[in-house]
Amino acid sequence: MIDTFRKIKKDFQAALSMDPAATSKLEVALTYSGFHALLFHRFAHWLGKKRIPFFPRALSQFARFLTGIEIHPGAAIGSGLFIDHGMGVVIGETTEIGDNVTLFQGVTLGGTGKQHEDRHPKIRRGVMIGAGAKILGNIEIGHCARVAAGSVVLKPVPHNTTVAGVPARVVGEAGCPEPARTMDQLFQDVDR
Ligand SMILES: CC(C)(COP(=O)(O)OP(=O)(O)OC[C@H]1O[C@@H](n2cnc3c(N)ncnc32)[C@H](O)[C@@H]1OP(=O)(O)O)[C@@H](O)C(=O)NCCC(=O)NCCS
Repeated sequence: MIDTFRKIKKDFQAALSMDPAATSKLEVALTYSGFHALLFHRFAHWLGKKRIPFFPRALSQFARFLTGIEIHPGAAIGSGLFIDHGMGVVIGETTEIGDNVTLFQGVTLGGTGKQHEDRHPKIRRGVMIGAGAKILGNIEIGHCARVAAGSVVLKPVPHNTTVAGVPARVVGEAGCPEPARTMDQLFQDVDR
């Protein structure tokens, strides 16, 4: 439970520090749907780990009703996740997300329908995933990678790499150790 509260604190700090539009702690606490969805998820995940039936899914669906963000209670999410705008984000059951990741609205971390059991993406620390990107299957997105808005990612992405397009291909290097933290969205040439 202490770990759950620690993560909630980091989620709050992430929203406050990452969003230039955030003007106060009160504003983040009361109006940030990404933070609200994570708040519900932290408790749903904790209940799920205690093997309590029904309530984790019920909490998850209630959060979806309130925020438009659907996070399966089974998803393992590190601290400091920032979900900007949020509407339409879907995070599947066996997804893993490292610390300090940023997701924009419309991101899907889903299955392909061809895999069973462990079937969702593994997102490592510091990754930024642009609006509307779809990452499908049990593939790894390496730390500090960036996924461009609207991309469909079907293959693993190496760390510190930027991918874009449908299907996604490498278009550059990620320009900083943790693009999710700096919001640095500038490409650098791969050959550089
Ligand atoms: C990937 C990203 C970080 C790169 O931004 P950038 O460094 O300014 O890149 P550029 O615009 O110079 O584009 C570089 C190349 O990638 C391509 N590209 C960039 N974004 C792309 C995208 N979303 N889909 C497909 N190709 C893309 C460009 O066409 C260009 O290709 P070219 O070299 O063949 O001309 C940015 O485009 C992005 O998608 N950010 C997500 C931000 C977001 O979701 N914001 C939502 C706020 S509500």
